[in-house]
Amino acid sequence: MNFKRNIIITGGAGFIGSHVVRLFVNKYPDYRIINVDKLTYAGNLANLRDIEDRPNYMFVRADICDFDTILSLMKEYAVDGIIHLAAESHVDRSIKDPFTFARTNVMGTLSLLQAAKAVWEAFPEGYEGKRFYHISTDEVYGALAMNHPEGIEPPFKTVASSEGHKAYGDDFFYETTKYNPHSPYSASKASSDHFVRAFHDTFGMPTIVTNCSNNYGPYQFPEKLIPLFINNIRHGKPLPVYGKGENVRDWLFVEDHARAIDVIFHEGKIAETYNIGGFNEWKNIDLIKVMIKTVDRLLGNPEGHSLGLITYVTDRLGHDARYAIDSTKLQKELGWEPSLQFEEGIEKTVRWYLDNQEWMDNVTSGEYEKYYDSMYKGR
Ligand code: NAD
Ligand code: TYD
Repeated sequence: MNFKRNIIITGGAGFIGSHVVRLFVNKYPDYRIINVDKLTYAGNLANLRDIEDRPNYMFVRADICDFDTILSLMKEYAVDGIIHLAAESHVDRSIKDPFTFARTNVMGTLSLLQAAKAVWEAFPEGYEGKRFYHISTDEVYGALAMNHPEGIEPPFKTVASSEGHKAYGDDFFYETTKYNPHSPYSASKASSDHFVRAFHDTFGMPTIVTNCSNNYGPYQFPEKLIPLFINNIRHGKPLPVYGKGENVRDWLFVEDHARAIDVIFHEGKIAETYNIGGFNEWKNIDLIKVMIKTVDRLLGNPEGHSLGLITYVTDRLGHDARYAIDSTKLQKELGWEPSLQFEEGIEKTVRWYLDNQEWMDNVTSGEYEKYYDSMYKGR
């Protein structure tokens, strides 16, 4: 079959990547979607069961640092677009093992850029019609001040903004905010963002970078706050709240991020940066109380039943105080906005994890990793 486009999505077996793959495979039957994923602990093909047999979907187990494999894949399928999500993504792991983050996030991105450059420059039409879209995080901007700990009326609102929505500081992350990463994770993502922009500025590669706030939703690995806590509440296990639980994050439903990626991949301007977020700031402790309330209600427990599980623990090293994205540019220029109100999104998410205990048991036991290792041995 001849496809209109041949697109590599890296990290497609991970949390956000699996939602992006699903959206593209379903929405664009005339595109070949090639999911390139190493299947680290965070990659899980069970996230894509519903689309794995589609004729426009292909999975290739490969490390993005493996330049030769990426190069030959790009040549073989005349790849004209890359949507790059593969990364080491957890701040706590980056504190313990920064090398892995530099390897995958920096060297892996560079290897993809070099492969794309080699293949695209050899096409008669060069870079025309090509696109290298790099998915990054708001954490590259550093931390915002919490100068209104009680919250103030925010300057903006979207569908995603929670009821009684507040902002906890005067400032926001804009596309023009200077990079100031604090964790090894955000430092590695910042470095990869710079490499992507350098390939545009030096070689004319058609690149786009987006920086998104914290995502939540189905298929997120339970080392991250929301799935970890939903699972712990269900099993009556302690909820380790770092520090005083006062840090603020700006939460966006993962399918809304995937929709933004679709719009930006197709309509975003080359060499631009877009911030993606829903104007939806939450203090961790308030969010944890919403999760407790929702899980208890859905499990038929009396209200307040699981509040005693909250356990304050030693703070994360270098813990960023507040993240808050201004996504006005994306909303105004490309007409994207979130589709889901936060309370609806949390309810949907809690229900999904409660209904998919088998998925959770599988990832927490690590069974799936053993399976892939035997299945893909020697490849
Ligand atoms: P994730 O950890 O759930 O998934 C990462 C995927 O990348 C996994 O499938 C893993 O197997 C794969 N991978 C890791 N190293 C690889 C390598 N060397 N070669 C090939 N594949 C490899 O991550 P996520 O939360 O889905 O994040 C995806 C992207 O979005 C990342 O680039 C992250 O920085 C960015 N991001 C995440 C968030 C968030 O809240 N999760 C917010 C903004 C941006
Ligand atoms: P996390 O989901 O790791 O995302 P990020 O660090 O990229 O924002 O954490 C979200 C917030 O929750 C962050 O402020 C750290 C905090 N947190 C806890 O308090 N306890 C936990 O066990 C985890 C995983 C996170």
